[in-house]
Amino acid sequence: MQKYVSYLKYIQFMQQFLFLQVLVCLIFYKNRLITVNLAPASIKKEGAGYDLPIALGILASSGIIPSDTFADTAVVGELSLDGSVKRIRGVLSMVLAARDNGVKRFLVPAENASEAAVVKGIAIVGIERIDQAVEYLAGALAIEPVEVDLDVFFGATNRYQDDFSEVKGQEHVKRALEVAAAGGHNILLSGVPGTGKTMMARRLPAILPDLTLEEALETTKVYSATGALPPEIPLMVTRPFRAPHHTVSDAGLIGGGHIPRPGEVSLAHNGVLFLDELPEFKKNVLEVLRQPMEDGHVTISRAAMSLFFPAQFMLVAAMNPCPCGHLGDPFHECTCSPVQVQRYRSRLSGPLLDRIDMHVEVPAVQVEKLTQASPGESSAAIRQRVNTARAVQSERLHSDKYVYCNAQMSSRNIKNYCQIDDPSRKLLENAIARLGLSARAYYRILKIARTIADLEGVEDIQVSHIGEAVQYRRVQYEK
Ligand SMILES: Nc1ncnc2c1ncn2[C@@H]1O[C@H](COP(=O)(O)OP(=O)(O)OP(=O)(O)O)[C@@H](O)[C@H]1O
Ligand SMILES: [Mg+2]
Repeated sequence: MQKYVSYLKYIQFMQQFLFLQVLVCLIFYKNRLITVNLAPASIKKEGAGYDLPIALGILASSGIIPSDTFADTAVVGELSLDGSVKRIRGVLSMVLAARDNGVKRFLVPAENASEAAVVKGIAIVGIERIDQAVEYLAGALAIEPVEVDLDVFFGATNRYQDDFSEVKGQEHVKRALEVAAAGGHNILLSGVPGTGKTMMARRLPAILPDLTLEEALETTKVYSATGALPPEIPLMVTRPFRAPHHTVSDAGLIGGGHIPRPGEVSLAHNGVLFLDELPEFKKNVLEVLRQPMEDGHVTISRAAMSLFFPAQFMLVAAMNPCPCGHLGDPFHECTCSPVQVQRYRSRLSGPLLDRIDMHVEVPAVQVEKLTQASPGESSAAIRQRVNTARAVQSERLHSDKYVYCNAQMSSRNIKNYCQIDDPSRKLLENAIARLGLSARAYYRILKIARTIADLEGVEDIQVSHIGEAVQYRRVQYEK
């Protein structure tokens, strides 16, 4: 058997993301020529996951394993020269696709077994060595399918050390972050240095709503495809928080490479993408964000393939108002010339800013607030309200696939769920006329108003909700 395994190592078959069908066509033992056909040929294969199925296919065609044992069974795994089976990337997507195609049993590398067993309705068999797989398939060895208890993982969420209670003052910024977290809205914090922008943004994960199982599976699929999922964490049960440095490339942010890999926007799927010091990012890098921010996914096309990665993220950005940081600061004089300020701000294009639902100014903290002894509201208390508001949204939007929160609502959803009365309409019309808001801004204000109403626990959007939502847009247009 070792002999066959060594032959296989000469044939570098690559695979990724597709469910495999291995056809062993010809085996010429005399000349030691083995032809293996991976069908369909039109799909480019990448990765080492075909090793084990090819080896088992050869053994089955030579009669060592009974062929009928493969009925309703799928196999994946990389083979080492010593016969051990190594972990591969993207197992979760493969198992989900297999289950949806009627496969009943999946043999996976033992190291991937807990990740695969997150999918219910299919038996996952963890394999450590090829001889173990042969004995198992020949009926000479019994291996119990792997089970994982998802409640254990979901129960162990939220081990955040930093808490919102440490943030002094800035009540309206905390309120804005609560609204943003509840509805999944994009938010930009702008203000003078040292006022707590980074501090508050980094505490955001502690107030984000719980992931649903569906969202957790979607996010885990992205991590599984990159191979970044630790074996002890088979399922992403907390929302990802990605904070790439401003030197990130456009391929790093959006995804790409010779064999396309998901970028930061996809790794932040169903979570937060935090861009600190926003104007420091390269302009072309920021501009590529526009498409996924609108569509919620990224499509990367190469000559041989076109790959789709999900990218439903909440953008949180922070910046200073000017290069020296003190424009509008009552305590320090700004040393920037108007041209410098203009150049700094022009790094952020209008279309990008228009996609950011909430623009919040972060003022300097008053000294008496800083020295006050009593702690502010804790992350747990804020999170409870966020969770309640998000549950209302999930319930309302449950019939729409891949729509989990207000920020993701389509035009049809907005028409159905964001009806407003006459006083609200008047207020909104006035705001549009006065601030010159775009059509996009109009719909985004309605979504934020919906979230504010959900946080308050009321069914109908009221004029006060529209008023607060408009105020989050004012900053951008009044500069
Ligand atoms: N509102 C606040 N409450 C308590 N501590 C604060 C507050 N604001 C700032 N600090 C303290 O100041 C430090 C710096 O704050 P932070 O890095 O968040 O500022 P920033 O607004 O991001 O500044 P910059 O514009 O320079 O990036 C924090 O680590 C914290 O110790
Ligand atoms: Mg900062």
